[in-house]
Amino acid sequence: MRILITGGAGYIGSVLTEELVNDEHYVVVYDSLYKGHRAAVVDGAAFVQAELSDNSTLRKTLREHRIEAVVHMAADSLVGESIVAPAKYYQNNVAIGLTLLEAMRECSVHGLVFSSTAAVFGEPRKQPIKEDDPTSPTNPYGESKLAFEKALRWYEGAYGLRYVSLRYFNAAGASIRLGECHHPETHLIPLVLQAAHVTNREITIYGNDYPTRDGTCVRDYIHVVDLARAHVLALGVLQERSAMYNLGCGGDGYTVREVVEAASEVTGIDIPIRMGARRVGDPATLIASSDKIKRELNWQPQFQDLSKIIRSAWTWMKQHPNGYKDHSS
Ligand SMILES: NC(=O)c1ccc[n+]([C@@H]2O[C@H](COP(=O)([O-])OP(=O)(O)OC[C@H]3O[C@@H](n4cnc5c(N)ncnc54)[C@H](O)[C@@H]3O)[C@@H](O)[C@H]2O)c1
Repeated sequence: MRILITGGAGYIGSVLTEELVNDEHYVVVYDSLYKGHRAAVVDGAAFVQAELSDNSTLRKTLREHRIEAVVHMAADSLVGESIVAPAKYYQNNVAIGLTLLEAMRECSVHGLVFSSTAAVFGEPRKQPIKEDDPTSPTNPYGESKLAFEKALRWYEGAYGLRYVSLRYFNAAGASIRLGECHHPETHLIPLVLQAAHVTNREITIYGNDYPTRDGTCVRDYIHVVDLARAHVLALGVLQERSAMYNLGCGGDGYTVREVVEAASEVTGIDIPIRMGARRVGDPATLIASSDKIKRELNWQPQFQDLSKIIRSAWTWMKQHPNGYKDHSS
């Protein structure tokens, strides 16, 4: 298949590109590098450095590369920032997303896999969270992703767009060559590993009075390679129908404290903890039911064990102590 990946120089997009190139698909990475990294663009993929809002480059790319399907990962995705700067989130995640749909319509590209998020659910009433549970985002980031998801449904009805929306829980870990490098970093596992890497830096746990097994928040971590494999399966679905899937590892999830303990064990370094107050809008527990994607697409995660996920991230971090800055551009 001939696939364009928006945001393909980012964390998840680069690992997906690697999987697709290995599977001998033709891949075009479309990324402005506003947050991504040139060194994360996989050899074997074509690369277009451009803004998604650059209509003429986007249309030219879709046409010249004879694109058959798009994976739309480019977005802003910091929950805290979205609360103070909602305009940025509606602009990039909704308005610019719609310009992508228009370009696809004009260039007769009818299939899209969309990077959605657990944040569309807000404060869930029950766990694990299923695809048809009520959506009620508690921040503009989740709202912007939900707004785009809703647009997809109407575009399907009116214009015949086929889409698969994948609602990821917490992506983590690394492939052999590609890992997580965000500025600023807000995700727990890289933050904990950075704390282990830089001696004496402590990790703050926000709240230890939640109704969970040790009082800290419970989250569901999915290895980035397992996540990428789910996209490969989703691209296959586009031939037949549209769909929506939650993506996590399920089970009991892991508390923040368990993540820190597992990281201490993997790294052999005692990671100092500081207790902080709860953050506004942090649900106590977020666990995905991934039964639907397992049942319908036969998706089977290979890295359900937290230690394996952390070990892969740790190996990558030790090889890239300054992230992608160690590499060209
Ligand atoms: N990382 C997670 O745990 C997680 C969880 C749920 C959902 N998601 C979603 O998955 C997607 C990928 O996440 P990630 O962690 O890889 O993000 P990332 O920030 O590492 O990658 C996003 C990429 O998109 C590019 N980009 C953003 N806006 C652009 C624009 N307007 N034009 C061109 N390029 C643009 C950036 O340069 C960057 O390379 C995002 O849509 C995010 O909301 C991520």
